[in-house]
Amino acid sequence: MSQPVVTGGAGFIGSAVVRALIAEGAARVTVIDNFATGRRANLKEVAGQVDVLEADLCDYESIAPAVEGAPVVFHLAAIPSVPRSITEPVLAHRSNVDGTFNLLLAAQRGGVGRVVYAASSSAYGDTEVLPKTESMAPRPKSPYAAQKLMGEYYASVFAECFGLETVSLRFFNVFGPRQDPSSPYSGVLSIFMKCILERRPPTIYGDGEQSRDFTYVEDVAALCLKAAQAGDVSGQVFNAGNGGRFTLNQVWRMLCEIEGVSIEPVYGPPRAGDVRHSQADLSAAAACLGHAPRFSLEEGLRRTLDWYRAQQFETSKS
Ligand code: UD1
Repeated sequence: MSQPVVTGGAGFIGSAVVRALIAEGAARVTVIDNFATGRRANLKEVAGQVDVLEADLCDYESIAPAVEGAPVVFHLAAIPSVPRSITEPVLAHRSNVDGTFNLLLAAQRGGVGRVVYAASSSAYGDTEVLPKTESMAPRPKSPYAAQKLMGEYYASVFAECFGLETVSLRFFNVFGPRQDPSSPYSGVLSIFMKCILERRPPTIYGDGEQSRDFTYVEDVAALCLKAAQAGDVSGQVFNAGNGGRFTLNQVWRMLCEIEGVSIEPVYGPPRAGDVRHSQADLSAAAACLGHAPRFSLEEGLRRTLDWYRAQQFETSKS
């Protein structure tokens, strides 16, 4: 097959990669998704140009023909949650480790040009120094972090031992339109968005002074495409962040200001496996991949709020 493949392509980030590929001129894109967390609605704007294979990455026989001969596979399928990897470690391991191994095997045997792998900033754990650079020793604090790190190791080993070109991108707390806010495992900003639009307080785990490098989804999708093209990077790992750092308290206050309301959050106990501070050093990604994030946190928040607001309006109409 000569078209790009996106695993997890019906997901929040995966569908952004699909849209970016089509915007850059891909005639058709193959999506492999088991719809565990993905949704067909995420692909509705590009449905006519997408071939969807509903399959689990652990089902090698199903996925191998779909990736065979692809110029590039973006591997975004995962069970993406620190707390879920603690409550459901077997499910998360199967998806994040076994699924990744199978995908890499199918890609290597099928002569795929390159695999771009969605790794995670969680691999760093709590480092003594900020921002976090790729040369720091990883210190995973949760099953999710360990699983994503294992995927990275496999990606570079497939490059080293089997000649499969791979690039791993450590995503830093990606947010934006289409992130599903409806589960307790949802990303914090999607939950904040829902709360602010419903004018109710969020629950913040811990004191809210933990900080994150929140990264707008379109910047991550753009970097995925750059990673697919860059020369001389096979087997390497790069940070995919925005480069900034904001505490949860700061972000909630920003949202309150944007919406012109004042709502005090509710504070709960800290969450197991939580990293305290996270911020990406972007030098390597900028130098080797041309990473140049376009969206400030505030701009990303405004765009995302607009999207959720429009969804609310749609739901209230139907
Ligand atoms: C981690 C990774 C991130 C990865 C994500 C996948 C780090 C630093 N980041 O995100 O790169 O993409 O896993 O899921 O490891 N929180 C609340 N209230 C809520 C929900 C969350 O206070 O209702 C808090 C959490 O305790 C945490 C922060 O918000 O401190 C962010 O949580 P979440 O959005 O789940 O992402 P991380 O676990 O940071």
